[in-house]
Amino acid sequence: MHIDRHERIFFIASALLMVVFALAVGISGFVYGIQVPQPVGLVDPRTVATPGASEFPFGDSPEDRIRELSPGRYEVYILAQMWKFSPGSINYGEKPITVPAGSTVTFYVTSKDVQHGIKLQGTNVSMMVLPGQVSRLTATFDVPGEYDFICHEYCGAAHQTMYGRLVVEP
Ligand code: CUA
Repeated sequence: MHIDRHERIFFIASALLMVVFALAVGISGFVYGIQVPQPVGLVDPRTVATPGASEFPFGDSPEDRIRELSPGRYEVYILAQMWKFSPGSINYGEKPITVPAGSTVTFYVTSKDVQHGIKLQGTNVSMMVLPGQVSRLTATFDVPGEYDFICHEYCGAAHQTMYGRLVVEP
């Protein structure tokens, strides 16, 4: 079968590109630990902040949504709304989320109103926050310091003020 030279070059280039892309995905996942946010459940955004309304504890008090599972392993359930994240919303008088250095924290995030985003600075935690969906990402904090999480999806008049803080203690 005759294949035109240009077409052959195109085939080979396309195959090479796919190999490059597969390597990029593999390296970012296994070497750099980049994860795709996992949608882990559906909730009703109208009732998600009511205690016991869903399988997730978004109705509990902000302090009770920071859970130590075992030494150095935490789960945090963050509820986003215009224009705060809770827990950790220091500009609304909440305490920062505080964990000791070396901790691994799994973040579960949802919204009770509109679409938000969450980016935890200094980590690779970054995801969209959708009403009705609970998304999950995990990060390990070896370096003590203050890590702010900011909203990076435009969500209304005070979008630029929407942030919270996580403190990693030595
Ligand atoms: Cu929430 Cu922008």
